[in-house]
Amino acid sequence: MSLNEIEDTLFAYNQQHLIQYWKELTEEDQLSLITQLKNINFNNVSNLFQKAQTYIQEGIQKLDDHMKPVPRNKFEAELKLDTKVLEEYFLLGLKEISKGHVGVILLAGGQGSRLGVTYPKGMFPLELPSGKTLFQIQAERIRRIQKLAEERTGKYGKICWFIMTSEENHEPTENYFNKHGYFGLNKEDVILFRQGLLPCFTFDGKIILEDKNRIALAPDGNGGIYKALQKNHIVEHMKKRNIKYVHVHSVDNILVKVADPSFIGYCVKKGADCGAKVIPKENPHDALGVVCEVNGKFQVVEYSEITDKTANLRNEEGELVFSAGSICNHFFTSDFLEKASTVYEKELKPHVAKKKIPYIDESGNRIQPKTPNGVKIEKFIFDVFEYSQNFVTWEVPRNAEFSPLKNCESVHKDCPSTCKRDLLLLHKSYIQKAGGIVKCEELEISPLLSYAGENLESKVKGKVFDKCTVILSDEEVVVNGFKALPL
Ligand code: UTP
Repeated sequence: MSLNEIEDTLFAYNQQHLIQYWKELTEEDQLSLITQLKNINFNNVSNLFQKAQTYIQEGIQKLDDHMKPVPRNKFEAELKLDTKVLEEYFLLGLKEISKGHVGVILLAGGQGSRLGVTYPKGMFPLELPSGKTLFQIQAERIRRIQKLAEERTGKYGKICWFIMTSEENHEPTENYFNKHGYFGLNKEDVILFRQGLLPCFTFDGKIILEDKNRIALAPDGNGGIYKALQKNHIVEHMKKRNIKYVHVHSVDNILVKVADPSFIGYCVKKGADCGAKVIPKENPHDALGVVCEVNGKFQVVEYSEITDKTANLRNEEGELVFSAGSICNHFFTSDFLEKASTVYEKELKPHVAKKKIPYIDESGNRIQPKTPNGVKIEKFIFDVFEYSQNFVTWEVPRNAEFSPLKNCESVHKDCPSTCKRDLLLLHKSYIQKAGGIVKCEELEISPLLSYAGENLESKVKGKVFDKCTVILSDEEVVVNGFKALPL
């Protein structure tokens, strides 16, 4: 595409300002800018902005009058279940794993702007006694659950791990996994794929120039997964491998039960095509989105979309009516993902986030705005719930399954120290349950030894732990010596 052709396109979409510094650019910078421009489908992005603008102008709609909680027959709380039924779900999930029917998609394409790091969140140094990162913990949970499935069913099946990255963090993620030997997983079972980018806009629809030769781009949200699945032929790959069920979760939850057999078993047993794992909201102001029905369709309603009155509603047992807090932890059949990535994706509404986006002003100065000056357009992963033919919800306890790494330390909430605290507290409870005596603060269990508190008795029963310890699997001792540091 020549400059002339690009000029015509820019003119047609009223974006001529994107080449206003053309003459000042070196040949190399011109080439870089033209490549970025070529990669933008101006028709699509301008339609997206038009759609998004409706939402910008309408502001946040309150949905109270249209909402109903998830019906009883589509909701199960793990803690309230009969142990026999729970065991049935767990075993069913393990069987599907051992048949190789389970895949995991890790959402790792976010920018981590609140945490404030420039590298992938999965590599963040959490300062755990073991030195492990989110990526390593999650990889080891996959290895452990594969083993557990084999122990319980007599059959070994692989879990294929699909990791969605962004243009920005793909390479560092790939390098990290390569450097650490995929944390003991086979490289061919770990598939990294990139999500798309969208330009950032001013409030009146002009694409923002971040530098004279660079367009401001941002990942298209975790709902960008559907487009990315299609573009990278991921569902085809799943089908070739006979993957029927997919667990999708965010990278930032240190307690995530990757490929959770109970959740998978429950969804499979109910014949669900789509499921959400939720936690009970702690109080009406807990800022989690709520899974509920809106006008008969399942949806996640953001905290800002309901009034205080609705947030405070309680049922006869005194529990919050809208309590099913969404934690970005979902189940899909691969058939559903196929339709989501080819059909529903096009229907998903764009969400807008007002952001402070650095830009080049009329005089060519780079400005770091102090207040929001533009929008990032994103799609949300849960917006496909409304297309589900059989949607179910699985409630789990927060202290065992959810502690996200969202913020930098100074926020004191959902930050590195709370993640570390919550993981170590959970591990302490596992050790005490298995008969260990804990007299120290820092006690960590390797995910290779125990997925969720099982398999600990022989290592901890009757033992007193009075100094910082990492309890390792035999494999780690044999393979690495007494060492639970990053490989
Ligand atoms: P968040 O919405 O918390 O965003 O993502 P974030 O990027 O991690 O952090 P901030 O908002 O910039 O501070 C929830 C999950 O969705 C993934 C994230 O990696 C995280 O696992 N995500 C988010 C994507 O994969 N792609 C995106 O475009 C956005």
